[in-house]
Amino acid sequence: MPHRERYLFVCENRREESNPKGSCAQKGSEEVLKRLKEALVKRGAHKRVRACGAGCLDLCEIGAAILQEPDHVAYGKVSLDDVDELADCVVDGRVCERLVVFPEKAP
Ligand code: FES
Repeated sequence: MPHRERYLFVCENRREESNPKGSCAQKGSEEVLKRLKEALVKRGAHKRVRACGAGCLDLCEIGAAILQEPDHVAYGKVSLDDVDELADCVVDGRVCERLVVFPEKAP
């Protein structure tokens, strides 16, 4: 299987409930990943764009966090309500600006 045009790395890290740092899995990232995969299939784009689970991206406080490559942007506070818009953007080869927390380059 060749490299995809784009990747969405969805943090699925889960910490214990008592951990003050929190984690993306506690904020619904596992379901976000599942729905993203479904959204890519629905758009016929799953062979061009891959959504996959990742470990901690060190964006825990603003999870659920996703890294989009090769655009090298990070999304934060992603919820199920954002899945369709995010899938539309990445399938079109765009960045979903509304969700960006860390752009590729500092302004
Ligand atoms: S737990 Fe998701 S970025 Fe750290």
